Amino acid sequence: MDPTTSGPLTPGSLVPGPLRHVELCTTTDLDEVTEFYLAWGLHVVERGDDSVAFRSSGPEHHVLRFVQTDYVGLGHIAFAAPSRRGVDDLHRLWADRGVEITLEPEVLSSLGGGYGFEAADPEGRRLRIITEMDAADPLVPSPSAPRRLSHIVLNTVDIDLSCEFYVTMLGFRVSDWSEHQMVFLRNLTDHHTIAFNQEAHGSVNHIAHELDSLDGFLTAVGRMRSAGVDPLWGIGRHGPGNNAFAYYGDPAGFVPEFTTDLEQVQHDASWVPRVWKRVPSQSDLWHLAGPPSAEFRRHGAGQPDPGLHAPRWNRS
Ligand SMILES: [Fe+2]
Repeated sequence: MDPTTSGPLTPGSLVPGPLRHVELCTTTDLDEVTEFYLAWGLHVVERGDDSVAFRSSGPEHHVLRFVQTDYVGLGHIAFAAPSRRGVDDLHRLWADRGVEITLEPEVLSSLGGGYGFEAADPEGRRLRIITEMDAADPLVPSPSAPRRLSHIVLNTVDIDLSCEFYVTMLGFRVSDWSEHQMVFLRNLTDHHTIAFNQEAHGSVNHIAHELDSLDGFLTAVGRMRSAGVDPLWGIGRHGPGNNAFAYYGDPAGFVPEFTTDLEQVQHDASWVPRVWKRVPSQSDLWHLAGPPSAEFRRHGAGQPDPGLHAPRWNRS
């Protein structure tokens, strides 16, 4: 795909709503995971023998759920749909276009309930489209506690195929490229809700949590420092997306990011995707962070995700 082309859009009613939550598989003791994410500013909403789920201060029932198993990898990514009809329409479109359906539309018995279905993207990532999930009770927001998930970045073995799938099947639009190494995709006004990074294997690169302000962002970084945890990379401000960043290593094997001030795309028609060069002056606008640390690169690459499988998107 031409790296400056947004690609065809699916009808607006099929474009998934906000990122709801991400489920992750880990081998780490969940008490250790819980201690980290409480310091991060999240709240426990479910604790089972082999799982723990966290919410932020926003209305989503939960934003992260960790399941203890025998590998580190992605469980699923959940997006909101506006209605049962939106769920059913997207399911029908995907089924008609050869997308692997792993769970037919139904009333879900999983945490937070709702009505939804699950399908696999070309690399076997499980995507859930859910409406009518239980809402979380309002919390008094703390400026230094995450309000919601901002975005997820995924390592892919085929960045062009991944980009094509999310543009043509989910209605994402290309916001920017970072050479031919990363592509940033938006579904609403945030510059990116999903991004892909070309890698030798599929895995989760990082998951970003949004703070309401730069002051809240800096206070969150300070709170983590008080807890004895410093960023793997950052603080800094990126060129693509213009967002402030601080990347960490969690004990579960993933990279969470504090972010704020992500660029907003208010007018799709006039947005022209850019191709950013991978040079420090464009990935570190404040000239504070320096180039990505080796530790950040290692954590972000992660391990090949054994939960993924060979491409099964039948495009014919
Ligand atoms: Fe990020």
